[in-house]
Amino acid sequence: MADSLAILKKSGLAIAILAAGKGTRMRSKLPKVLHKLSGLTLVENVIASTKLVNPTRKLAIVGYEAQQVKTALAAMTDLEFVEQTEQLGTGHAVQQVIPALEGFEGNLLVLNGDVPLLRPETIENMLKTHRKNNNAATILTAQMDDPTGYGRVFCDENLTVQEIIEHRDCTPEQRENRRINAGIYCFNWSALMEILPHLKADNDQSEYYLTDVIKDLSPVMAMDAPPSEIAGINNRKQLSEAEDVMQARIKDELLLSGVTLINAASITIDSMVTVEPDVIIEPQTNLRGTSVIKAGCQIGPGSLVENSLIGENSKVVHSVVSDSEIEAGGRIGPFAHIRGKSEIGENCRIGNFVEVKKSKIGAGSNAAHLSYLGDAELGAQVNVGAGTVTANYDGHNKHKSVLGDRAKTGANTTLVAPITIGADVTIAAGSTLTRDVDPDCLAVTRVPQKTYPGWRPKYLRAENEEDKPKN
Ligand code: UD1
Ligand code: CA
Repeated sequence: MADSLAILKKSGLAIAILAAGKGTRMRSKLPKVLHKLSGLTLVENVIASTKLVNPTRKLAIVGYEAQQVKTALAAMTDLEFVEQTEQLGTGHAVQQVIPALEGFEGNLLVLNGDVPLLRPETIENMLKTHRKNNNAATILTAQMDDPTGYGRVFCDENLTVQEIIEHRDCTPEQRENRRINAGIYCFNWSALMEILPHLKADNDQSEYYLTDVIKDLSPVMAMDAPPSEIAGINNRKQLSEAEDVMQARIKDELLLSGVTLINAASITIDSMVTVEPDVIIEPQTNLRGTSVIKAGCQIGPGSLVENSLIGENSKVVHSVVSDSEIEAGGRIGPFAHIRGKSEIGENCRIGNFVEVKKSKIGAGSNAAHLSYLGDAELGAQVNVGAGTVTANYDGHNKHKSVLGDRAKTGANTTLVAPITIGADVTIAAGSTLTRDVDPDCLAVTRVPQKTYPGWRPKYLRAENEEDKPKN
C-alpha cells in the first residue's frame, strides 16, 4: 500500500503554486496571497480551481512571511510547502520544487498564487489540451482590451507559442499584442527539467523569469480563457474588481438554483456558503464563512450570518449570528446577537436586543426582549422575561446557568451563576437569584414595597390642604 502510494506520488499531476512574493503593490503587511476574496484567501481560491484535475502532489512555494502563509493553510494537510528564501523571480520560485519532485514523471501545473478567478473547468480543459497534443508546455492566455502590465504571448495562428516577453521588456510594437500570459502553465516535467535549471536573469528586473523557459521548449501551445478568469491581483483596486466578479458568479448560481436575492447588489455571500432553494435573502445581508441556510428561510434585511447553520423556515431579521446553530422555525431578531457556538432549538424566538453567547436553548423557548444569556442551558418552552440577565462572570471564570423546561423568569431577573433553576419554576420580576430553585416553585427576592403618602413638600401644597396627612 505504502509502495503504490509512493509510485502514485511520482506520476500523474503535480501542482506548484507561486506564493512567495510580498505583493508590494498591495501596500500591506499581510502577504498578498493571504488577502481574502469572497471569504477565502487568494491562494485558497487558486487551490480550489484545481479541484477537477486530481493532483497527486500539491506544492506551495512560500517565502515572504512563510510561517504566516503556512499557518493560514495548515488545514490543507495534503499541501507541501517549499521555501524560496529570496524572491528572485517566478523561474527561481519553480526551481525550488526540483528537489521535492526528484524522480517525478508526469505533468507540473504551475499556478500564480495571485490569479484567483480561474474556473475548475478551465484548468480541466487546459490539461486535456496539454495531454491530447503531447505538449512540452501549455499556457493559459487571454486577449485583453488593456494588456498593460502582463507578459505578452507571441504565437502563430495555430496557437503554437514562440516566446513570452514581459511588458517592461517589450518594444512599443510588441506591446500592441493583446494576448497575455495568465501565469498558469502546464509543463511536461522532464522537458521542463532540461531548461529550468539553466535560466538566466538577463532582463530589466534581473529576475529569473519562468516565462523564459518557453522559447526553449517545443511544442508549446496557448489556450485562450475568458479575460475575467485570468485577472491577476497586484493591488487593492484589482482585488476589489475581482471581488465583484466572484460575487456576481456566486449570486448568479444561487439565483438560478432557486434563491431570491432582493437588491442583490447590497448582499455579499462568501464562496463556501450553502443556500438551499426557496430562501429569500433581503437587502444589506452578509453570509460568511461556512454558513448553511436551509430551505424556506428569510434572512435579512440587514443581517450577518457567519459560520452558522440556519434551520428550515427560520427568519433572521436585522441580527448577527456567529458560529452558532439555529434549528428549524427560528424567529431571530430584530436586533439579536447569537454567538459563541450557541445552539437554538426548534421554533425559538430570540429578538429585540437579546444577546446569546455559548448557550443551549431548548425547543419552543422565547427570549424576546433585552436579555443576556451567557453560558446558559435552557430546557424546552422556557420563557425568558424582558431584561433577564445571566451574571455568568465573576471576574475570573465563567459559570453556567441552567433553567428547566417551562421555567419563567420575570422581567429584570438576574441569575447569578452557577445556578440551577428547576422545571416549571416561576421567578418574580426584579429578583436577583443566587441559589438554586427546586422544580415547581415560585422564587421571589424582593424588598417589600413601602409607600409613603404626602410626599410632596409643604410649599407645593394648596393653602387649604392639610399639613400632614394622617397615617
Ligand atoms: C507574471 C508573469 C507575467 C504574467 C503575470 C500574470 C513572469 C516573469 N511574469 O508577472 O508574464 O502576465 O504573472 O499575472 O512570470 N512569486 C514567487 N517568487 C518570486 C516572484 C514571484 O513566488 O520570486 C509569486 C508571487 O507571489 C505571485 C506570482 O509569483 O503569486 C507572480 O508574481 P508577480 O511578481 O505578481 O508576477 P507578475 O509581474 O504579475
Ligand atoms: Ca502578478
